[in-house]
Amino acid sequence: MTTRPAAVIVLAAGEGTRMKSSTPKVLHELAGRTLIGHAVAAADALDPDHLMVVVGHGRDEVVAHLAEVAPRAAAAVQEQQLGTGHAVGCALEVLPPLDGIVVVTYGDVPLLTGDTLEELIGQHAAEGNGVTVLTAEVDDPASYGRIVRDSDGAVVRIVEYKDADQSTRLIREINSGIYAFDADVLRAGLSRLTTDNAQGEQYLTDVLELARADGRRVGALVTGDPWQTEGVNDRVQLATLHRELNRRLATRWMRAGVTIVDPASTWLDVTVTLERDVVLRPGVQLHGATVVREGAEIGPDCTLRDTVVGAGSAIVRSHAVGAEIGELASVGPYSYLRPGTRLGSQGKIGGFVETKNTDIGEGAKVPHLTYAGDATIGDGVNIGAGTIFANYDGVDKHHTSVGAHTFVGSNSVLVAPVDLADGSYVAAGSAVTSATEPGDLAIARGRQRNVKGWVDRKRSGTASDEAARQARARQTDSDVVEGSDR
Ligand code: UD1
Ligand code: MG
Repeated sequence: MTTRPAAVIVLAAGEGTRMKSSTPKVLHELAGRTLIGHAVAAADALDPDHLMVVVGHGRDEVVAHLAEVAPRAAAAVQEQQLGTGHAVGCALEVLPPLDGIVVVTYGDVPLLTGDTLEELIGQHAAEGNGVTVLTAEVDDPASYGRIVRDSDGAVVRIVEYKDADQSTRLIREINSGIYAFDADVLRAGLSRLTTDNAQGEQYLTDVLELARADGRRVGALVTGDPWQTEGVNDRVQLATLHRELNRRLATRWMRAGVTIVDPASTWLDVTVTLERDVVLRPGVQLHGATVVREGAEIGPDCTLRDTVVGAGSAIVRSHAVGAEIGELASVGPYSYLRPGTRLGSQGKIGGFVETKNTDIGEGAKVPHLTYAGDATIGDGVNIGAGTIFANYDGVDKHHTSVGAHTFVGSNSVLVAPVDLADGSYVAAGSAVTSATEPGDLAIARGRQRNVKGWVDRKRSGTASDEAARQARARQTDSDVVEGSDR
């Protein structure tokens, strides 16, 4: 049974001074989402009637970001950070009167999943609790709030580290700060909070003791996965949680049929999609909306962002952003595919090639040392080594079209705008500025002229001169030998 909560309130007003950053803490990223993005995604999985983020420090930036990534989320402002209880109060003030379950989470706890929140509200409902808190047993409880239980094991209260005596500090069950409340219990508790504590703050944790005093049951879900309760306060924790999240993502994909040769050097955003029998070799980073279709092999050493790779294709040591690669195609090593690159099925982008806003047809090949920008390259085309699509005249960008099965000789410059017809040829070393007709050969280069005896006169005594002499002598000898045969 799933119980939809009336609201999820995500606390994110704190400053995050230990990040030492001009970016608000909850806007720091791991695995392709901000901290607040992860928190909101977990909250959203519960499909609550209201999703409210409490913002304070850096709120303009945080609100703008939320509008982009989570239009469903509303924001409540907490002007001054007077404590977690006060923060929840700020959210309730702007929400309509609520009835049912209210979940509270933090904006800086990125590994928490929707499933764990489901489990929390499931237990809350099943036990008929007024409050259910998510806790964890840890080896080093550090400065977390401690869960105090009575001799029957019932949760009595939460004591903050700064308010705890020595024996309370020995407790290893900690408060994650994530709770399910009955809305009426939450309201009744918040209205009675004091600031009579070591930090002079309104502690949300005090609501538990107040609920018990009112005769309501207080429960705890002890998670076996403490990573899900860990927050980010500094960049060391950000990196630690990123690595753990990445390990989890890699494990999930391997279980789904993806080979990941070296999970530790393979970095995946949560938004990436991989199909069966994909192979990821060491040093691969897949970002954003990247999709890798069945059996494609990526790496070693590739970075792909918002890129689709067709089934059975292979990419080696390359960087792609906003590219679309067809089936059974190949890319790399050492190529750079920029936005708007489309490579047709069985097509090839080889080594040291840069492409941008270019559509490359089925079976077409751009094998070596080329720049192709703002171009349409037809099916079966062969672009010779070192070809440059000169798309920019210093003011505007122009388009080049290369018709199907056209052959462009090596080291040519195609000066846009220009159209090469289907089935035409370009001689190597051409600077092409005008269109071809089907079947034409375009030759656009200086005609070769050999200056006889130039080395003799201008480079006399050099190794080249000597080599030329010897070659001439051999030629004369062989003329003589050939002559004597007859
Ligand atoms: C709080 C809990 C503690 C728990 C710990 C888990 C209280 C009194 N204590 O500790 O029992 O072990 O979380 O991490 O609740 N925030 C606001 N407005 C405020 C204060 C905090 O939005 O006025 C937000 C922060 O941005 C942060 C979260 O609430 O996301 C927790 O605040 P923080 O100060 O880190 O937690 P503690 O008070 O140390
Ligand atoms: Mg605090």
